[in-house]
Parts: sequence; C-alpha cells; structure tokens
Amino acid sequence: MIEFSKEKKFYYITTPLYYVNDKPHIGHAYTTIAADVIARYKRMKGLKVFFLTGTDEHGQKVEGAARNAGKSPKEFVDFLVPEFKKLWELLNIKYDYFIRTTDPEHEKAVIKFFNKVNDAGDIYLGEYQGYYCVPCETYYTKTQLIEGDKCPDCKRQVQLMTEPSYFFKLSKYQEKLLEHIEKNKEFIEPETRKNEVINFIKQGLQDLSISRTSTKWGIQLPKDKRHVLYVWFDALLNYITAPGYSSDSKKFNSIWPADIHLMGKEIVRFHAVIWPAMLLSAGIELPIKVFGHGWWTVEGQKMSKSLGNVVDPIETSKKYSVDAFRYFLLREVPFGSDGDYSEKALVQRINSDLADDLGNLLNRTIAMIQKYFEGTIPEAKKLNEKELQLKEFTLKKAREADSFLEALEFSKSLYSVWEIISSANKFINEVQPWTLKEKKEELASVLNTLAETLRVISILLFPFIPETSEKIQSQLGIKSLKFSEAFEWPLIPPKTKTGRMEILFKKVQ
Ligand code: MSP
Repeated sequence: MIEFSKEKKFYYITTPLYYVNDKPHIGHAYTTIAADVIARYKRMKGLKVFFLTGTDEHGQKVEGAARNAGKSPKEFVDFLVPEFKKLWELLNIKYDYFIRTTDPEHEKAVIKFFNKVNDAGDIYLGEYQGYYCVPCETYYTKTQLIEGDKCPDCKRQVQLMTEPSYFFKLSKYQEKLLEHIEKNKEFIEPETRKNEVINFIKQGLQDLSISRTSTKWGIQLPKDKRHVLYVWFDALLNYITAPGYSSDSKKFNSIWPADIHLMGKEIVRFHAVIWPAMLLSAGIELPIKVFGHGWWTVEGQKMSKSLGNVVDPIETSKKYSVDAFRYFLLREVPFGSDGDYSEKALVQRINSDLADDLGNLLNRTIAMIQKYFEGTIPEAKKLNEKELQLKEFTLKKAREADSFLEALEFSKSLYSVWEIISSANKFINEVQPWTLKEKKEELASVLNTLAETLRVISILLFPFIPETSEKIQSQLGIKSLKFSEAFEWPLIPPKTKTGRMEILFKKVQ
C-alpha cells in the first residue's frame, strides 16, 4: 500500500489527452465513459473527485492534419476542441477540468518542469537518427520495423531522419522503475500489461529524444529556441500542470498523486516507463495506478478512416440513447480485454437487457403499485420467505457489484445487477401478484419488496447509466445517490408516491 501525503484530499482520475487531429470516435468515448463511471462511483462513496480530461494539441500529427485542412495549427485545434467538449456533454461526462496543452498555464508549467529536470543533470544535447513514423509520432529502430520500412504499429512507411536533439536520461531510471513496479503490485494493471512493461524495461532503456527541430508547433525550449519539446514530453505533463504544479502548491498537494491514469493499452509504455522516470527525475511522487484497457475493433476489423468503419459516438447515442451506448460499452467486454463492436450486438443488449429485463421489471412494478395502491408504495409488515430470499439475494449481489466496480470489473459488476433483475422478474412470475388482489397485506409486502429491489438497482446503475437511474428513481418517487444505501433495506419512506410511468428503453426492431 502506498502512503498518501496527508494533504491529499481528492480522488484523482485522468483520461489520455486526445489528439485533436480529427473528430472523436468510439475509442475516445470508451475511455472517457469508463473514467466517468469511476468518478461517479467514487463521488457516490463520498469522496471528493478530480476528474481530468482534455486535448493534446502539439506535434507533427496535429500540424499535418491542420495543413491538410488548410488551417494554421491553432485555428485547426480551436475548431476541433469544441467537438470533444460537445461529445462529453452529450455522453453525460462530468469531468472537473478540461486541459488543453496549448493553455498558457500548461506551457508555463512545462517549462518549469523542464528546467527542474535540466538542473538535475538529466538533459543533454545529442543527435538523433531514427526511423520516424509521422502518424504515430514515434521513432523506431531498424529491427522494430516490419517489411523493412513500415511502422510496427500503423504499418505505414517510416522516414529515416537525423536531427540535433536534446535527450532525457531515461536509461538512468531503469533499475528504480523496476524496483517501483516490483514493490507496488498495483502500479500497472491489468497483469498482462505489467508483464509487457517489465519485459520492455529489462531489454534495456535508451535515453529519450525529447526535442525536435523538424517542427515549430510545440513548446519552445527555454535554453535553445530552435527546439520544441517532443509532443509526448509536453503532453504527459498535463497530469501535474492541471492540478496546479506551478501555480498552486496547496491545490496540487491536495490532488496529486493521481489515483489512476486510464488509457488504451497502446500508450501504457509512455505512462508506465517514460512518465514515472520524468517524475523521479523531478522528485515528484509517482501516480498510484496506470491502467491500460483493451481496444475496440468494428465487426472484426481495425477502425480506420480508409475502411470507412469509424463508429461515431454522437450518431450512435442519438440513434439508440446515450445510456444504451454507455451500457453496451461497459457490459459487452471485460475491462482490459479487446472487444468487437457491432450494431447488431448493441441492439441485442438494448432489447434483451435494457428493454425486456430492466424495463419490464420497472414497468410491471410501478403499474401494479398504481393499480392496487393508488400509486403509493405500500409498506411491508413482515416479509415472507420468498420475499426475504429476494431481499437477501439483492443485498448480497449489491455487495458483489460494489467489489467488482472497485476492482474496475465493470462487466461483472453489471452482471451482478442483472442477476438481481432476473431474480426479481422470476419472483414476479412465481408469486403472480395479480392473484393476490383480495389479500391486500400480502400484496403490499410483495410490491414493497419489488420497490426496494428497484431502489437498490437504481443506485448500483447510477455510475453506468445515470439518466436511466434517475428515471427509475423518479418513477419510484425517491432520490438516493449514496452508494452505501444500496446495502440498506428498507429505506423507502412510508407513503412514498410513485411518479409518472415512462418506458425506459424502446425495443429496436
Ligand atoms: N495524445 C495521445 C495521448 C497523450 S496522453 C498524455 C494519444 N491520443 S489519441 O487521440 O490517439 O488517443 C488514444 C486513446 O484513445 C487510447 O489510449 C484510448 O484511450 C482511446 N482509443 C483510441 N482508439 C481506441 C480503440 N479503438 N479502442 C479503445 N480505445 C481507443 O494517444
């Protein structure tokens, strides 16, 4: 366990800063939704949360995209950044701060950091020659290339480039990094990613070229204005510049270190090797966890503009609802593994899980309360055996859903909630409440049990599908957003009036 500095008050979660070379797609949405689920969950547990996202705006990739669009880099990024913000608003992403690497505050802080590392003796001037992949912003060695001259990542042709460059002494931190990873078992997750990083470090770390003369679009080095900082060195620093590294040490100490840096698997190496080495050099505490999730393909293929199969999160959520999209992404594949997106799979989840299972449970329960008790949730005098069983099962599964969520096992957490939903539906089918019309006390107990079950469900679902959860609560006539209330029973106050009935999810034909 890592000891927090006493000043730390916030749970700090980050997404990568997305390149603004194009509109956001499903991959960007995935990481950001996952971060939002965690942030909402932590808030429900009573923690103060600092949830950071933003945009990575420097470097050759963005510069090239701007050129193609006939705009200056700044004009180009200013035009695209609102697309990201619009998407986050649509998807119900409640971030606390949005950082852009072109923010003057960030640029200033980056220079402060650079000087610190320079003063530590970890920067030197050298010459860099390497095979550079422009789209990936990465240099490769000859042996890493595929078919002799292609990028091992995006498979496009690389260019042999030589330029004077400042280097960061990454190699100096090899042993310290290995030691840190060894000592802090939860530093890199999941396990497969950790092993990849360890193997990579053990092959021997080379110093990192961190400046470029080949582009002007970046932060100028204070000691040599012909150079701009390598985009990754600049971008990684956002995680400390946003909480106030150079401007507000009190705020900074209340937020840093990050509890979790969330990202796709392809950039774990930057976050679990280069980033901690930079922090070690500057004498700053390391983040607590780096988590690399899997990648989405689309109907079995890598997503790409040229294949024309890029999934637009705006279009999809407008067509099927934001919550259906959020639910699908986190339910369909275990967090950490790769997943395959298809509209067919999404529709199946909507029809069976959301419309049939959840929607029907709510609908039947509210309809019966309105029909037999004039819309007031009846009290239960004493639960019979079947009702007690449903109550105990619900509370047990709520605990399970909680531990899975704590461990970032989103899909399993949702599965536990659906186990509750299924058993409640089964309960209705077996008890057949409509046959108890004349036995008001028995019927009251049945419907109270169902309403309490739905209350627990609505709490467990809030981090994932907040709008739906609120709809369930407003139909039940309650408001409950404390996670701990999912473990309490009963909680619905006597004489609670149900709200207007509304279909949660329409079936898709
Ligand atoms: N700018 C860098 C990150 C700098 S962080 C200091 C970058 N940007 S990116 O726009 O390419 O975003 C990459 C991230 O987007 C991935 O790490 C992942 O979070 C998300 N995804 C992009 N495509 C994805 C999939 N196909 N599937 C899942 N997530 C993916 O890298």
